[in-house]
Amino acid sequence: MAIVTFLSAKGSPGATTTALLAAALWPRPAVLVEADPAGGDLAARVPAADGSVLDADRGLLPLLTSARRGLTPAQVLEQTQLVAGGSRVVVGLGGSEQALAAGQGWSALAGALRELTRHQDVLLDAGRVGADPVHLDLLRASDVVVLVVRAEAGAVLHARERLRVLSGALRRPDGLLPRLGVLVVGDLRRRAREADDAAALLTGAGDRADDFGRLPLDPAGAAVFDGARTARPERTALVRAGRAVVGSLADAATGSTRRSAA
Ligand SMILES: Nc1ncnc2c1ncn2[C@@H]1O[C@H](COP(=O)(O)OP(=O)(O)OP(=O)(O)O)[C@@H](O)[C@H]1O
Ligand SMILES: [Mg+2]
Repeated sequence: MAIVTFLSAKGSPGATTTALLAAALWPRPAVLVEADPAGGDLAARVPAADGSVLDADRGLLPLLTSARRGLTPAQVLEQTQLVAGGSRVVVGLGGSEQALAAGQGWSALAGALRELTRHQDVLLDAGRVGADPVHLDLLRASDVVVLVVRAEAGAVLHARERLRVLSGALRRPDGLLPRLGVLVVGDLRRRAREADDAAALLTGAGDRADDFGRLPLDPAGAAVFDGARTARPERTALVRAGRAVVGSLADAATGSTRRSAA
């Protein structure tokens, strides 16, 4: 099993929505960890499976706080909650102060999540990643890193720079790298060509990035993952397109022998 991490760069909102979509459609048992150092918003945007509000005190903060004494996969599982739709999640932090205070806790969390992959997949919402990410150890512990990119000129430029930096920063001391790729979000009905061009631009240079596919810009579908009550979420364009994309990501995760950085 694998750790699959979703993140974004400047100009490309969608990391949380895409991570929630992946968790909802993942074909194997998985836990979604909201590991955005800027703070999480799951507790505010998705209800618990029984319709109640998610417990914001249960989740990543108690894990990172106790991580100084070491962390086990069982402790991670104790902090999960079931959300409407059936996904199991670890609710994120209150804000960036907590993320900074966690210090080495991120590294202990990375170790516990790697151990957890003996039994199930781990999906991470790593938020928007800039220079010097506080959770770099978590990103490095990933098997697959998915950069969510909007098919817009500015967004693509920022994404290209982020890929360049990440392909160096994710290198581990043993020389191995997570599999790094892009998932392009755009208006696939009227501007599919732009989305393909964006993907080609981002993956074309060397072997820096894989193409993990396309997702439509679909406000109605995205609203499903933002607390909206939708009668038939499976009929939205986002969920319909998501099935194939998430399926092939899950396949990529099983075959993700880490690439040599040489
Ligand atoms: N495929 C999509 N189609 C239409 N709207 C989308 C899509 N993905 C995300 N959105 C919308 O964009 C906004 C931001 O999305 P989201 O919260 O997923 O981004 P984020 O990268 O996690 O942002 P943040 O940095 O605040 O954590 C939301 O209103 C969401 O509904
Ligand atoms: Mg987010």
